Amino acid sequence: MWNLTKQILITGGLGQIGYFLTSKLLLEEEVEITIVDNFSSNKVFPEDLPDRVHVVEIDVRNFLQEIKQIRVSFDTIYHLAAQISVPFSMSSPLIDFEINSWGTLQVLEFARVRESQVIVVGSAAAIGEPRSVPVSPAHSRDPLSPYGASKATSEIYALTYYRSYGLPVAVVRPFNVYSHLIKPGDSYAGVISVFLSRAKQGLPLVIFGDGRQTRDFVYAGDVANVMVEIPKRNDLWGQTIHVGTGTETSILELANLVLELTRSSSRVEFAPPREGDIKRSVADIGALKQFGLPLPRPLKEGLALLLANKGDTSV
Ligand SMILES: NC(=O)c1ccc[n+]([C@@H]2O[C@H](COP(=O)([O-])OP(=O)(O)OC[C@H]3O[C@@H](n4cnc5c(N)ncnc54)[C@H](O)[C@@H]3O)[C@@H](O)[C@H]2O)c1
Repeated sequence: MWNLTKQILITGGLGQIGYFLTSKLLLEEEVEITIVDNFSSNKVFPEDLPDRVHVVEIDVRNFLQEIKQIRVSFDTIYHLAAQISVPFSMSSPLIDFEINSWGTLQVLEFARVRESQVIVVGSAAAIGEPRSVPVSPAHSRDPLSPYGASKATSEIYALTYYRSYGLPVAVVRPFNVYSHLIKPGDSYAGVISVFLSRAKQGLPLVIFGDGRQTRDFVYAGDVANVMVEIPKRNDLWGQTIHVGTGTETSILELANLVLELTRSSSRVEFAPPREGDIKRSVADIGALKQFGLPLPRPLKEGLALLLANKGDTSV
């Protein structure tokens, strides 16, 4: 009898996006999931996951050496493992490179030899300060930090493996991802979790700069919804897919939205701008529309979901 269970590997699967991706994949039948993670910035723990998910402690810097002990091949690999801190990349560019670039290259090489499909998660940080918005996937890469450079390198290798070897590879670039898993106490908590927490406590919402800088905030569950669709199709290999709402939100608008939804009387305060903060960012989501991929929910809906505390079930 043929075994039809799909074998899926998720690197960095214990992180924010990995959690939603795992939950979404488990809703689909006949998958067995292996997660490799080094527990450096995990948001969930192995005991939180069902039996069909196997968690193995591996550092992607040693991926090729260590994965052989686990399994010889996978149908699909989602490569999410990365160190995601820009300040860390500034102070430790070599380690950032080893994890984000060298780790990705090892995953791609494993996929080439073992004939797996790969979805590599890139980052808009690869682009740097966009020359035009909405940011097209074809925009040139001019990263402003070692993190941006290591993610750019990983994207370039991924697409090169598609062109050179015909490996089925797609790059997914989420914009600013949020969910209930990011806590204000986390070392590099996103602005959304900080604003929500402070608004609920009646503390001032502090904006760095004039608040006119913009971002495209996308719910982590919606990033997962796009990622699970990719291996079901054959027209997405070789593509870079931007995942955002396509709507530009200024930090001042975000602050006001948070105040409205939390009915908070917190004040908005302004602090000096942070060095290296990009001015405008919003995804060109033409590819999502063109390929009929699921569109992320608007920010207001995602924030309402977080406030209703339903984040963990909404994939
Ligand atoms: N969060 C965002 O806004 C955002 C935006 C664009 C791209 N991304 C990319 O999405 C991916 C996932 O991000 P996330 O938000 O879930 O981050 P996260 O920090 O929550 O998850 C990353 C996971 O990778 C693991 N990890 C880190 N270094 C590792 C290593 N050397 N070996 C093995 N595992 C390691 C961590 O323990 C963690 O579980 C990353 O590749 C990131 O660059 C994130």
